[in-house]
Amino acid sequence: MGNCCSIQIGFENFLLRGWVCVVGHANYVCKLKQTLPTLSAALQELRAQRNDMQREVDVAEQRLLKPFEQVQLWLSKAETMITKAEKLIEDSPRQMNNLCLGSCASKNFLSSYKFGKNITKMLQEINDHVSKGAFKKVAESRPSASVVVRPEEQPIGLESTIEKVWHCIVDKDVGIIGLYGLGGVGKTTLLTQINNKFSTTADKFDVVIWALVSKDYNVEKIQDKMGGNIGFRDTSWKSKSVDEKAVDIYGVLRNKRFVVLLDDLWERVDLNKVGIPKPSQENGSKLIFTARSLEVCGEMEAPKKIKVECLDTEKAWELFQDNVGNETLNSHPNIQNLAKQVAERCGGLPLALITIGRAMACKTIVGEWKYAIKMLQ
Ligand SMILES: Nc1ncnc2c1ncn2[C@@H]1O[C@H](COP(=O)(O)OP(=O)(O)OP(=O)(O)O)[C@@H](O)[C@H]1O
Ligand SMILES: [Mg+2]
Repeated sequence: MGNCCSIQIGFENFLLRGWVCVVGHANYVCKLKQTLPTLSAALQELRAQRNDMQREVDVAEQRLLKPFEQVQLWLSKAETMITKAEKLIEDSPRQMNNLCLGSCASKNFLSSYKFGKNITKMLQEINDHVSKGAFKKVAESRPSASVVVRPEEQPIGLESTIEKVWHCIVDKDVGIIGLYGLGGVGKTTLLTQINNKFSTTADKFDVVIWALVSKDYNVEKIQDKMGGNIGFRDTSWKSKSVDEKAVDIYGVLRNKRFVVLLDDLWERVDLNKVGIPKPSQENGSKLIFTARSLEVCGEMEAPKKIKVECLDTEKAWELFQDNVGNETLNSHPNIQNLAKQVAERCGGLPLALITIGRAMACKTIVGEWKYAIKMLQ
């Protein structure tokens, strides 16, 4: 008898749970008419909040401020949510068509139930996300990447020139520094060393910007290279005019202590046209450039002009040896001596020492070295 009673109670419980479940399911369907417009309104609010925050982040990035990771995560979650909610709303006319009996029943109950449940869940998620998005600040107040470290190889015999340039950089009276010298003497190598040195120095500038100028000098090309460094990366910026870009670059740099490194100038670069504020004692900023000719240094009104010299005999031999390799140099007792004569004929020019050194790396016959000396006379 006891057993029979417990089986009955168990069965009633089962029925009750089943009923509650059916009512719950039906509830999702019945409420669809109310929840859908509520979801649309919530989506609108989320979109507006996302747009406002994205705008703040864009402005912060333009000012070289790094957005908080939490803010970026919030934005990316918002993006996913918006896409999901839009999909649900897009599906809604089809789902509403399934409803009948005053919207409390459906021709496809399972599908309407699932849809209703998803709508309620989405609404809850959006409301939670909107309430989590009340950030007081979207970015920290420090530069995102003040120096982009460039690939470098350990140069030979450049230490004293680096020191000389650095001495000018710390001198607050010097704003523009011109580095000049023969093609292949190591100007770009030197500028790279200077660029990378900024990443380890305590006397931090707000931003260090590198731009290659080259023979086909073009204001817009320089602006695009510089713009990428200071947060102007979007296509809408790229479609702006040269004047507008100059205003934007100027707007960012005028409040910064900046270093602009321009490599390989063949003629005067008009700083105003590019949007580079003139370095001065007041702004503490620097412009360092390389050029082959001393005249360009004059045209740029550089008060400091530093000549990049060829390597002395000892350093030239070091660089040449590195490129030829010991195996070849020791392959015959006469080769070392002949190799020193070849190195001397390169006149201390790193580019020549490297190119000829590499070409001779496989020459193990004495006659080939003698021939090289003859050719270089
Ligand atoms: N001091 C050095 N030690 C080792 N390699 C060097 C040194 N200086 C220059 N080089 C090498 O010589 C080559 C030419 O150097 P770099 O490009 O710096 O010359 P450049 O003066 O900028 O020439 P250009 O006027 O043509 O731009 C590069 O391969 C570079 O790595
Ligand atoms: Mg160069």
